[in-house]
Amino acid sequence: MSKYKPLLENRLRAFILPLEAPEALKESMLYSLEAGGKRIRPMLLMATITAFGKDPNIGLDAAAAIEMVHTYSLIHDDLPSMDDDDLRRGKPTNHKIFGEATAILAGDALLTLSFKAIGEMSSEVASAETKLSLINKLSQASGAEGMVGGQIADMEGEGKKLTLRDLEYIHANKTGRLLSYCVSAGAELAGASTTVQEQLETFAFHIGLAFQIRDDILDLEGTEEQIGKPVGSDTDNEKNTYPSLLTIAGAKEALEYHIGQAKQALDNTGLETSLLDQITDLIGLRTS
Ligand code: IPE
Ligand code: IPE
Ligand code: MG
Ligand code: MG
Ligand code: MG
Repeated sequence: MSKYKPLLENRLRAFILPLEAPEALKESMLYSLEAGGKRIRPMLLMATITAFGKDPNIGLDAAAAIEMVHTYSLIHDDLPSMDDDDLRRGKPTNHKIFGEATAILAGDALLTLSFKAIGEMSSEVASAETKLSLINKLSQASGAEGMVGGQIADMEGEGKKLTLRDLEYIHANKTGRLLSYCVSAGAELAGASTTVQEQLETFAFHIGLAFQIRDDILDLEGTEEQIGKPVGSDTDNEKNTYPSLLTIAGAKEALEYHIGQAKQALDNTGLETSLLDQITDLIGLRTS
C-alpha cells in the first residue's frame, strides 16, 4: 500500500487538475479526494491483479475511477438530507466547506469523470471491449441495482425494525457492490477465466458485508479521532445496523463468519492471494 497509494493519489490529481471547469468545483472535488481516505478499494483492485502475477499498474486508472465513485458516494451520504454528518476523513464534510449545491455537483462530477477515466485507458492495458465491460460493471455496481439502490433502502429503513435479510440487502448493495467491482475489474484486467471470476465473486460478497459490519461496529466502538467521522451517527439516525439487530457480540460473530468465508473462497481459487489475504484481515480488524 505504501508503494501504490502515492501513485494512485498522483493519478487522481492528474485527472482533476487539467479539467476546464470552474475553480470552485475543482477545489471541492479535490478537497474530498485528498482528504485522506484509506484507499482500500483501489488497493483491493490492484491486489487482485497481483494474484494473477500481473503488474498492478495496469489497474491504476480503474482504481482511480472507483475511488472517484466512492468519494462521490461519501459526499452525498453526508448531506443534511441523507446522514447529515459534519466530519469525514477527519475534516469538515464537503457541504460544510463548499455549501450543499457545490457538494452535490462535485459528487456528480466525480461520478461522471470515473467513466471517462476508464474510457481513456491505454489500449496497451485494456482493449475497447474490456473498457466497455468495465464501464458497464461500474455503472451497475454504482447505480439503482447497486450502491444507490442500497442507499435508498438504508434511508427507507430508518426508524423501522428490518429483518436481517433486509439488512443484508442494504449492506451488500450500499457498500458491497463497489468492493465487488474492484475484485471483478482487477480479475478482468488480469485476464481471469470465468471459473476463477465466479470464485472471486464469492470472496467479494463476503468482504463487502464484512466491511460494512465493521463500519457499523466502529460507529459504536470507535473514537472520532480513529474513524475521522462522528461516532453514533447510526444511532442518531435510527439506522438498522448489525449491532442494532444482533447486539455487538452478534455483529462481531457475523463479521468473523464473513471473514472466514472470504478466506475460504480465496483458498479455493488456487491463486497467489497473500495480498488479498492481508486486505481481508485488514477489513476484519480495521480501527479506522
Ligand atoms: C466508508 O468507507 C463508507 C463505507 C462504505 C462504510 P471507507 O471506510 O473506505 O472510507 P475512506 O475511503 O477510508 O474514507
Ligand atoms: C455508507 O454507509 C455507504 C455509502 C454508499 C457511502 P454509511 O453511511 O454507514 O457510511 P459512513 O459511516 O457514513 O462512512
Ligand atoms: Mg449512510
Ligand atoms: Mg453515513
Ligand atoms: Mg457507517
